[in-house]
Amino acid sequence: MTFHPEQRPSASVPLQAGCPFSHSNGAVPLSSTQMVDDPDSFYAGLREHGPVVAVHLDGDVPAWLVTGYDACNQVLRDGLLFTRDLSQWRIPKEGRLPEGWPLAPHVHPMRNMLFAHGEEHVRLRGAFKTSLAKIGQRRLRATITRVADGLIDSFVGDGQADIVSQYAIPLPGAVLAVLFGFPAQECERLQQAILTLLAGGEEALDANAALHGLINAHVDRRRQEPRADLVTWLLEEGLSFDETRETVWLAINAGVGSSTAWTANTCALLARTEDTRIDLRSGLRHIPGVMREVLWDHTPVQQVIGRVATADADLYGTIVRRGDLLVVSPAGANLDHARIGGDSHRSTYAEDNSSHLSWGNGAHECPAQGLASALVQGGVERLWTRLDDLHLTDPDQPTRWNPSIIVRIPARLPVSWDARRARTRAETLAPLGDR
Ligand code: HEM
Repeated sequence: MTFHPEQRPSASVPLQAGCPFSHSNGAVPLSSTQMVDDPDSFYAGLREHGPVVAVHLDGDVPAWLVTGYDACNQVLRDGLLFTRDLSQWRIPKEGRLPEGWPLAPHVHPMRNMLFAHGEEHVRLRGAFKTSLAKIGQRRLRATITRVADGLIDSFVGDGQADIVSQYAIPLPGAVLAVLFGFPAQECERLQQAILTLLAGGEEALDANAALHGLINAHVDRRRQEPRADLVTWLLEEGLSFDETRETVWLAINAGVGSSTAWTANTCALLARTEDTRIDLRSGLRHIPGVMREVLWDHTPVQQVIGRVATADADLYGTIVRRGDLLVVSPAGANLDHARIGGDSHRSTYAEDNSSHLSWGNGAHECPAQGLASALVQGGVERLWTRLDDLHLTDPDQPTRWNPSIIVRIPARLPVSWDARRARTRAETLAPLGDR
């Protein structure tokens, strides 16, 4: 994936006309179209067939989609019966994956924690978490604010911007580049490579090669010249050159798309709903609460690809066979109203409850929750501080979504604000040392 480990845009098979879930052999062709446009009815429709449904990924590749909250939890937590070691997946073993399969990068094993299990996983993940814990919180906040201000400065005078391409996409990559210690003169090339990779398409493979080149050179540099940054700390934790570079690649790919989606969808909620803005101004709500609502209802990572059954198993009434691939759906689980509470309880859940599956669960649960939360909160709060009258430019225009079954990012989010008011605001913030 060009964004999260779980994510790469897929050329999706459109759902068939008539019954949206019909297919000649009973399996559902898994398309992003309805999934991203109207997730609630998409998953409700699927759940009529049970919490575990036979699907076809692109290229008619068979898999199980797990959308029930309890079933997702079981799969994610039982790493013995449902392994993350995708080399055990039967289809590639039998040479049945189509040539050039667009989801191949998600299943191609690498030497990083995502594809590791057991003690090897604990070692690689431990080194990463120890390194993350060394990031000073004050330095982190200052970095996010500086990057955010640079981006906002570039469009504030225009009174309008596309928050996705001009803010939510560049912000996480630029912050991560600083935290990993890339030299300032390389940040732009790195950022460009990440953005091209994120966009998918024909140039993505070259961009990926460029990204690997930059990472390799930087890890090598830090072997000679250690500094106070994540690459140095990973090496100090005893990771080899290959393990370090593949961990850096994973973290950048894991972090950028998912954080972009979270930032964009939180901004969308602010920009779309006057009530939310009023509640924020009056202190009735805070940005972290809005962010949590987004984790429930617009989860950044929609599907996790995936897990492989290591033995035949009865999963909530569905028999899955050894070697089958399971795609776990945080989006489906979070919208499992039967389990999570009906509409009347929904807002309470969203605001105060963190039992959603947006971070995954079990041994591979996202290890960077603190960093990602700080990044998105810092970015959204900065935007809101500087442009507190931000609203959708055309509220009647329905949101279009990028075609991915993995992350759910609006294609565009055109917003407007009063540029004069923003200037005055900046002048007010300046004497406070805030501009
Ligand atoms: C700076 C931002 C981020 C970084 C560096 C990051 C990094 C990672 C890494 C390294 C893993 C693999 C963990 C392992 O295998 O032990 C992972 C897993 C995961 N992350 Fe993140 N992540 C970030 C942001 C996010 C965000 C914003 C979300 C969604 C809210 C998210 C959702 C997940 C999920 C669902 C998994 C589990 C994958 C699985 O079970 O196979 N991540 N993340």
